[in-house]
Amino acid sequence: MTLDEKIGQMTQFSCNWGITGPVMADDFMPYLKQGLVGSVFNASKVNGVRQLQKMAIESSRLHIPILFGLDVIHGYNTIFPIPLAEACSWNLNLMKQTAAIAAQEAASDGINWTFAPMVDIARDARWGRVMEGAGEDPYLGSLIAKARVEGFQGGKDWRSLRNLNTVLACCKHFAAYGAAESGKDYNSAELSENTLRNFYLPPYEAAQKAGVATYMASFNEIGGVPSTASHFLMTDILRKEWGFKGFVVTDYTGINELVAHGVAKDEKQAGELAVNAGIDMDMTGAVFIKYMKKSVAEGKVSIATIDNAVRHILEMKFILGLFDDPFRYLDEQRSKDTQMRPAFMETARQTSAQSIVLLKNDKDVFPIDKEKALTVALIGPFVKDRINLNGEWAGLGDRNKSVSLFDALLEKYKGTAIKFIDAEGCNITDTDQNKITAAVETASKADVVLAVMGEDYNWSGEAASRSNIQLPEAQIEVLKALKKTGKPIGLIVMSGRPLDLSWEDQNMDAIMEAWFLGTQSGNGLADVISGDYNPSGRLVMSFPRSVGQLPIYYNHKNTGRPLSSQHPDEDYKSKYIDSPNSPLYPFGFGLSYTTFHIDNVKLNKPVITMNDKLVVTADVQNTGKRDGESVVQLYVRDLVGSVTRPVKELKGFVKVALKAGEKKQVSFTITTDDLAFYGLDMKKKAEPGDFKLWIGQSSADESNEASFTLK
Ligand code: IFM
Repeated sequence: MTLDEKIGQMTQFSCNWGITGPVMADDFMPYLKQGLVGSVFNASKVNGVRQLQKMAIESSRLHIPILFGLDVIHGYNTIFPIPLAEACSWNLNLMKQTAAIAAQEAASDGINWTFAPMVDIARDARWGRVMEGAGEDPYLGSLIAKARVEGFQGGKDWRSLRNLNTVLACCKHFAAYGAAESGKDYNSAELSENTLRNFYLPPYEAAQKAGVATYMASFNEIGGVPSTASHFLMTDILRKEWGFKGFVVTDYTGINELVAHGVAKDEKQAGELAVNAGIDMDMTGAVFIKYMKKSVAEGKVSIATIDNAVRHILEMKFILGLFDDPFRYLDEQRSKDTQMRPAFMETARQTSAQSIVLLKNDKDVFPIDKEKALTVALIGPFVKDRINLNGEWAGLGDRNKSVSLFDALLEKYKGTAIKFIDAEGCNITDTDQNKITAAVETASKADVVLAVMGEDYNWSGEAASRSNIQLPEAQIEVLKALKKTGKPIGLIVMSGRPLDLSWEDQNMDAIMEAWFLGTQSGNGLADVISGDYNPSGRLVMSFPRSVGQLPIYYNHKNTGRPLSSQHPDEDYKSKYIDSPNSPLYPFGFGLSYTTFHIDNVKLNKPVITMNDKLVVTADVQNTGKRDGESVVQLYVRDLVGSVTRPVKELKGFVKVALKAGEKKQVSFTITTDDLAFYGLDMKKKAEPGDFKLWIGQSSADESNEASFTLK
């Protein structure tokens, strides 16, 4: 290969379909014809892909196939709940399955590579991209990263990528993009190596262990070094420590942005910093293609560095079988037969139902039993809405094909004595007296009110940070008016992030967090509202009492002056003078239509030695009248360490289905590896000492405590 051809392989161009960032200036067709394009971004559909691939193969000297990439984040045509919502299902098999379906649909349209999963730990709900990840916890986040990588790629072994139903996954955004200061997108992540390694890196590493084929560098800087220029991240950690063998792409124009970051005087130098740090492919920035030849001629970049990058990229094309047949994915009939199959819709519906989190349920507002004879008022801008339901990053999903709550409820309760009446009350941001009056009149005629409120889907996702995370004033105004009717009110919230629901918690009888649930939103919700599915979702991000508590997360440090729950008013403690420290709803929390009781916690031994295993068992009983699923969670605290340790860390969970009255034993195995952490020497190991553990129904549930010692 000539140097030009090599640099071409390191270049990704965006075609003009659905651009998600600044458009690059140059028309890429001449490059494509000369074999100077490694990957094309945003092309989709069999015909379009075939056209570009044909051009590349037929006109170029070496006939190297193009790799087609797209953001297939939570579905391609069949849209599943936003990843944050789906994570609340705590159902790893389901998450693997939805990733596999997304891969199947996308691959049948000629896509070889998705820019997912996003595994950034997120503690600040102001950050709009929390919708795309798995929340605040590194343990759960790591398991979800693995499940999603395996789903997209078909397994850990790269040979599974030969399967036409799989795509290359891309673990992003490496690293700590979710730690953006003040929740403002693209902002600096100011964190120590201790925090980086113990909290933020585990899900990225779990993706590597699961065999992820590619990584994406994050936009942010850490400690003065933007990730795109970070040799520490891209080479020392990713390749040397973790042994990653795939390739690394930048985020959109991430190399160009090194100039704005102020670490490169121009784009040429930016390209040198990036490639020397360990970046293999330039996403749409056209820096490599413009300047890299000169950088090599000047000795700023070695040929060996270029060769390595090209090798990483070409290897993936070989693995995918593109060199055997560049058109092997492209079959119109297969594409047609694959999109939005009934079985995929069924999985989407189940996933939607499992992603919903019931936060409050006074007066037994939910479920609305089909056997009852009730008039239900449906109020709010999301009752009939379809456009917002897919949420952000919704692939090619047709927003008009999503099932609205209204349509789903009419279908669900067809032939019953439940009668629905409705009024809009407001749109997402505005209302007027007429609309409020109509909403109140409608509510007054009903036995129960369901208010369906929330955020516009564009308010979360990339470049969508909010400094106020309450419901918009217009919606609260309507809720206040509804409250005056004295009717029981169930609030259903559609949002791409945890909101500050403090006022709603005090004033609404019931609250259901419905996120954005995708194509089958309405049906999933109707299944839960009717009680056909008993809600089993548990939060994966803490809900704050106010924006002032952010960032908030359960696995925080104790500080030297911890506040005791017995003396919440004590002075000179780490606390607010105008708010409790605790979140409104903690990580791991979620209600069911039944109740569960956990007891009889037993450890197989009180003392374990290094490389030993601790087996913890507990009984969990469904103490209510309906069948349901409980997520039994195990948290550990390492009481004394060579560095400070979190007050609690999730180390295991079991989602268990129990018939009404049924009792089951659940079992957890904790290895010393589970207790290991990075200390002062930045080596991961467990330290001998005493530990506490809790088995409970959320991170705040301390009703079952036990202790053990590691010797
Ligand atoms: O994949 C995304 C990334 O997550 C954010 N910037 C744009 C990329 C391509 O769309």
